Formats: sequence, structure tokens, C-alpha cells
Amino acid sequence: MATRDTWVSNLGFVLAAVGSAAGLGNIWRFPWLTAGNGGSAFLAVYLAIVVSVGVPGLLAEFVLGRRGRQTPMGALRSLTGSRWGSVLGAFNVLTTLLILSFYSVVGGWILRYTLVSPTGAYFAQPQQYFGAIGYGFEAVGFHLLFLGIVAGIVFFGVNRGIERVSKVMLPAVVVLLVGLAAWTATQPGTAAGYAFYLGFDGEYLFANFASVLGPAAGQALFTLSVGAGTMLTYASYIDEDSSLPRDTIVIAVSNTFIGVLAGLVVIPLLFSQGVDPGQGGPGALFVGLAAAFESLPGGRVVATAFFAAVLMAAVTSAISLLETPVATLVDAVGMPRRRATLLISGVLALTGTGLSLSAPIFQFVSGTVADLMLSVGLFAFLVIVGWMLREDAIAEFRAGAGRMGVLAPSWLFTVSWLLPVVVLFSLSSTLGSLVGVSLDLGSRVAVAVVLTFVCRAVVAVAVDG
Ligand code: TRP
Repeated sequence: MATRDTWVSNLGFVLAAVGSAAGLGNIWRFPWLTAGNGGSAFLAVYLAIVVSVGVPGLLAEFVLGRRGRQTPMGALRSLTGSRWGSVLGAFNVLTTLLILSFYSVVGGWILRYTLVSPTGAYFAQPQQYFGAIGYGFEAVGFHLLFLGIVAGIVFFGVNRGIERVSKVMLPAVVVLLVGLAAWTATQPGTAAGYAFYLGFDGEYLFANFASVLGPAAGQALFTLSVGAGTMLTYASYIDEDSSLPRDTIVIAVSNTFIGVLAGLVVIPLLFSQGVDPGQGGPGALFVGLAAAFESLPGGRVVATAFFAAVLMAAVTSAISLLETPVATLVDAVGMPRRRATLLISGVLALTGTGLSLSAPIFQFVSGTVADLMLSVGLFAFLVIVGWMLREDAIAEFRAGAGRMGVLAPSWLFTVSWLLPVVVLFSLSSTLGSLVGVSLDLGSRVAVAVVLTFVCRAVVAVAVDG
């Protein structure tokens, strides 16, 4: 077999991973969820979960990738020594295909808004415009265009495609967003938006803690790209000199910075137009922002810059989602990368087309189904790292970590006890609301703790027996 692709430098890996993390989740989903969940209250809970759950979870995925040196199917199979590992890896691959199917549809909308912003095509009637282009045959066309761009990059491989593109696009996203945030600060009517976003509202937080927790946890996983094996795949291309804990912290901080920055643009602009943030919603964001761009000076230029930034962020995330199934075909059956790229893109062209024709299916898949699959995927990673690998995981954490290696035991403890409870908590809440059962916060925590012990016992029997 040919030698595996690798990153040219550790910086290249970090930029590509931040590129994967920072995407539509930060710029489109985060401000909208924040606005709909009490602003600063959501921000506070979300930041706490990123630190306590997201960072150790991401680190677990990196450990699996670098230890396994393969895409999810091969890596989990060799690390667990069981065929169940391949099944879990295949589940990861399915998750990336599913997420990319809807991601590419949204990417198509963004691509269209970038192209038409210079003419102000949607300025006059934002609501009708979004209503007309969101789903249907034109949406299919732009989905295919977006997918084509993403496939064109993955086609060229890890260092000549992904690493190169990330090194250019990610800094461009940051520069554009900083400029836009500065521009926003000079606009009239934005003060209330900043107060809502940055002022700390302890009372709201206290009253709504239980309902803010679920969306905040889901968002923390989605934004860090945890649970689908894409970060595992990226980590399989790095060497033992890189410090995994350091890289993880750099990635999480940069990703959060980009999310908060996007909020500094979007939320004040929505407020300046008197858009009720509680009414949020994915489409309302396009519509509310369009109204702001319409009425403010230089709106067309600013709108173009904004959507171009979102587009680039979306592309660097989508390439990580495509890389996982493509590299799996390369690893597992030795298919040449270019042929694998064409094959997988062909599948995604079809699945994405299905979603761009049906709004209800689109919403179900992009919300509930994606959240569930990511939680299951992360849970499997936690079980393997925290309950099976243990000492090996500590060794992998320490390789290249220098003095940060002392953190390994507390990390492993978090991964084996705290995180499974949190993930089972959000998993059982989502499942519960699907079947119409809703428990209070205390009972939900109790269910999660009991389930964790049950799973622990099952795994112990399976592994030792
Ligand atoms: N994190 C990206 C975003 O915020 C999306 C993404 C890329 C992703 N790879 C992923 C989400 C893997 C979940 C799992 O837009």
C-alpha cells in the first residue's frame, strides 16, 4: 500500500482542524441559538460546556486518531481488537455523509447569497427571496455547485488540497469578521444588541438553566466537530511530536473566538432592525440580516464580505466531512483517492438533492437526527478511550505533550465518568422528547447516571469475558 498522506506541519494541522470546527455552526447556528435562548445566558452555559465537555471530548477523538493511524473503521477495529470497532467506524462514516448532505444544501444557499449580494437581489423582499430559493430545483443547483468546490479540494489530498486551502481561507475568514464586527460597532441602533449578548443576566440563566442546557451541549459538540470521526481522521495524519493537549486548546479557543466574533456581527445587526431574537430560526437570520444590509450605508459591499466569509468557513468544514468517507475508501479497500472522491461526491449529490427538495425532512435530519448520531458517536469514543484503552490512551496523550502530560490522569477521569453522564443525559433528553416523555432536570440526571453504570457493567463483561 502507498504511504499515507500527512500534514506538512503541525500548524497546517491546527489550521485545518480550526477550519473544520469553524463553519456554519459558528456563523449561522450559534448566533441564532444564542438569540433564541436568552443571549448572554446561553453564551455562559455554552462556554462552560465547551471547556468541560468539548475540550476533553475532542482530545479523546484526537487520541484515537493518532493512536489508530487510520480512518475510523480501521482505527477503531485495531484499537478495540473487535469487529464492533469497524461497525462503530462505519457509523461515523454514515454520520459524516448525513451531515454533509444538509450542510451542502446550506452551503448552496450561502454561495448564492455571496454571488447575488453585489446586486442586492434580495434587498427589496428578503422574506420572499429566501422563501423562493430555499428549497426546490434552484437550491439543488447551488448545492451541487458547493459540493463541486468541496470535492475539487479533497481531490488533491491532505497537504496539497486541504492544508493549502485552510491556510488561506481561515485567516481570510478572521480578517473579514474582524472588519465586519468593527463596522457593526459604528452602526446606529446596535447598543441593545450588545447589552443582550454580553450583559450577564443571572436571573434568566437561573430560571431557564434546564432548557438552555440541551441546545448548549448539542452546539458545543457540533461546533467542535466532535463525534463523527472527522477530527479522528485529521489526527491520523499527524506525528508523535505534536502536543495533542496544546493543539486541542488552541483549536477550541480559536473556534470559540470565531463564534463569538460572528455573534458580535449578527446579533447587534438583528437588533438594529428590531428583529425579535426570540423568533430566531434558520431562515429568519438570512431575512433579518438582509434588512440590515438594505438599510445601512455600504450594504452591498458589507453583505458580500459577510457571505464570502461564511462561504469560506463552510468550505473548510465541508472538506473535513468529505475527507472522512473518502479516506475510509482509500484506507479500507485501497481505492485511489480521486476515484473515491468522485464516488462519494456522487452519493452526496443525490442525498443532498433529496434534502433540498423537502423542507420537513431537511429540518428533521439537520436537527434531531444529526444531534443523536453525534452523541452516539461521541459516546462510543468515550467508551473506547476511557473504559478500554486507558493506559494506552494516557501514553498517547503524553507523547509530545511535554509538561502538559501531567494533566493526563484527570483528563482520563473526565472522559471515563463525567462525559458519559453528560452525553447520556442529552441523548436521553432528545430521545425522550421524540417519544413525548419529558422528565424534570433531577430525574434526567438520575437516568443518565444509572445508564452510565449499566453501560460500564456491560462493557466490562464484554471485554473481560
Ligand atoms: N463544526 C462544523 C461547524 O461548526 C461542522 C462540522 C465539520 C462537523 N465536521 C463535523 C460537525 C463533524 C459535526 C461533526 O460548522
